[in-house]
This record gives sequence, C-alpha cells and structure tokens, in this order.
Amino acid sequence: MSAGDGLHVLVTGASGFIGRHVVAQLQREGHRVSAVDRVAHPDPEVPTVVGDLLDAEVRERAVVPGVDAVVHLAAITSVLGSIEQPALVHATNVETTAGLLELARQHGVGAFVLASTNAVVGDVGTGTITEALPLAPLTPYGATKAAAEMLLHGYAGSFGLRAPMLRLTNVYGPGMGHKDSFVPRLLRAAATGGGVQVFGDGEQRRDLVHVADVARAMAMAVAGWPTGPVIIGGARSYTVNEIVAVAREVTGAPIPAERVPARAGEMPAVVVDVGRARGLGFEAGTTLVEGVRSAWADFDPAAVGSAQERAGARP
Ligand SMILES: NC(=O)c1ccc[n+]([C@@H]2O[C@H](COP(=O)([O-])OP(=O)(O)OC[C@H]3O[C@@H](n4cnc5c(N)ncnc54)[C@H](O)[C@@H]3O)[C@@H](O)[C@H]2O)c1
Repeated sequence: MSAGDGLHVLVTGASGFIGRHVVAQLQREGHRVSAVDRVAHPDPEVPTVVGDLLDAEVRERAVVPGVDAVVHLAAITSVLGSIEQPALVHATNVETTAGLLELARQHGVGAFVLASTNAVVGDVGTGTITEALPLAPLTPYGATKAAAEMLLHGYAGSFGLRAPMLRLTNVYGPGMGHKDSFVPRLLRAAATGGGVQVFGDGEQRRDLVHVADVARAMAMAVAGWPTGPVIIGGARSYTVNEIVAVAREVTGAPIPAERVPARAGEMPAVVVDVGRARGLGFEAGTTLVEGVRSAWADFDPAAVGSAQERAGARP
C-alpha cells in the first residue's frame, strides 16, 4: 500500500482531538475515510457511524467489507479516570480493540494502526524511553494500552494483519480546548487571567508532539509501517519551565506559575528516543513556538470536555 492509493480507511474516535486531524490528513493524501465515534464528526461529508464502540452492533456497522485499514483512536484517555473506573476503561480500551480486530480479521482488513502511549513502559526514572523497554505500566490506562498492543501482536502474528502501534508522547495543537494536559492548561490560564501549578522546580523534561505531526505519522503508518511499536515524539524535549516561557511569549499573558511539591508518581522526565520513527522516514517538523501559536490561535477556553477528561490528565 502507498499513500494516495485511495484506500478506504476507518478512523475510530474520529471526532476527537487527534481524530479530526487524522481524518483531514488521510483525505489530503487521497484516501476515502469513514468514521465511528460517540459524537458526530464536524464535517458532515465524512460518513460516520455515531454510536458507542462498546456496542457490538456499532462495531459491525463501522468495520464493513471493503475497509482496507483501521486507525483506532477511540479510547478513554484520562489517566486519573482510569484509576477511578478501571473496569470501564478496560472495556472501552481493550474489549473494543479485541472486537474491532476480530471484525478486521473477518473482513480481511490489511492494516490496523493503534494510538498507544509511552505510559506502557511506566516509570523509567530519568532514563530515555525506547521501544525496547519492557511493558510495566503504572496505571489502568497504561495497562489497557499495553494489553491492546499485545492483542495487535497476536492478530498480526496469526492472521497476517499489519499492525503498527504509535506510542504518542504528549500531543498538543489546534482543537484541544476540551483537553486537560499541560498546554491547554497554560492556554486556559492565559485566556482567563489565571495561573498554573508547576510541580517541583519545573526543570523536569517533557516531550510534546504537535497534532499535525501525529496525523502525518498515522498516515505513514497506514501506508506501510510494519507491525510493532513506534515512539512518536517531538524533535526535542523541553523543561516544564521552558514550556511555560513559550506559552507566555506566544500569548503575551503573564501566566503566573505557583510552585508546588512534586506529586508522588510524577515522572521526573519524559525523554524519548525517536530513532525508530526516524528510520521509517518520520520527523516531527513543528517547533514548540509554532505549535503553541497554532494551538493558541484556535483555542476555545469554553470547550467542554467530559468531567473525567477535565479531572484526569497529568501535566
Ligand atoms: N492526546 C494525547 O496526548 C495522547 C497521547 C497518547 C495517546 N493518545 C491516544 O490517542 C487517541 C486519541 O486521543 P485524543 O487526545 O484525540 O482523545 P479525545 O478524547 O479528544 O478523542 C477520543 C475520541 O474517541 C471517542 N470515543 C471514546 N470512547 C468511545 C466509545 N466507547 N465509542 C465510540 N467513540 C468513543 C470520543 O467520543 C472522542 O471523540 C486515544 O486512544 C489516546 O489514548 C493521546
């Protein structure tokens, strides 16, 4: 398969933050995209099955004969929410993945791309995260993504499905007003005259990747990446203090930072090795200043996420 062949790609979670960018990227590359999500897609031209993927009938209406590839983004994405409701997160993130894979097998779908996370490896201290580290997640959310990766391996090994798993770092960019990760918190603070909390001295490193880069990586994965995990991160990591400084520069707001003690379980560093992605021809192209500018230009502080989403994400 190669980009531009006009594949029929089903995107789950297509109405979400990353999903909307993935749909647009696949369309730009000449693919025919259909969608499934609990929420209607903002573009009425995108054929969408609106429903809950926990419902087998919804999955069956979405994965139909003729689908060439699935990009599976639908999930409960809140880490804290996963601690509060581990069984629901298991059902949503693992059982629906198993159900979708089974339909993919039955209908001869060629490729199944999973949005995974570096949380599958757990706390690596100040070490660099690579794909070779053992899976040792610290939360139900991380565990569900590790389990989903294993399901993909099993289907790839037994049924010849090609199954790339993209372990995304912290994704940011336009359309994230409903999210509660660190960049939208900063932008919300800038928009409302508020501040942010910074854990510890703010010198902990974080990896941010722009959603446009993630969408490109997803499309490349659809087109031909092999089965297995690939870390998708930014061009370099930044300290929390650097990210705050960029947000102040871009928004022109003071965004006061209150230093609070580091929380238990807070990762001292998230630094990733993007060598495998580079080997596959992927390079994140967006600088932090450009990326935060794009997120700010479109930022809607009134966007309402689920209570779980608001409560759940970590900086
Ligand atoms: N945003 C990040 O920083 C990040 C980092 C690593 C991995 N990921 C993964 O990327 C994927 C997309 O994340 P996002 O940030 O776009 O999240 P999002 O919450 O903005 O989008 C998720 C979408 O999935 C849909 N969905 C959830 N459960 C569903 C269900 N049971 N049935 C039908 N639709 C359902 C939601 O309605 C939503 O539109 C997720 O799998 C997430 O775990 C995201």
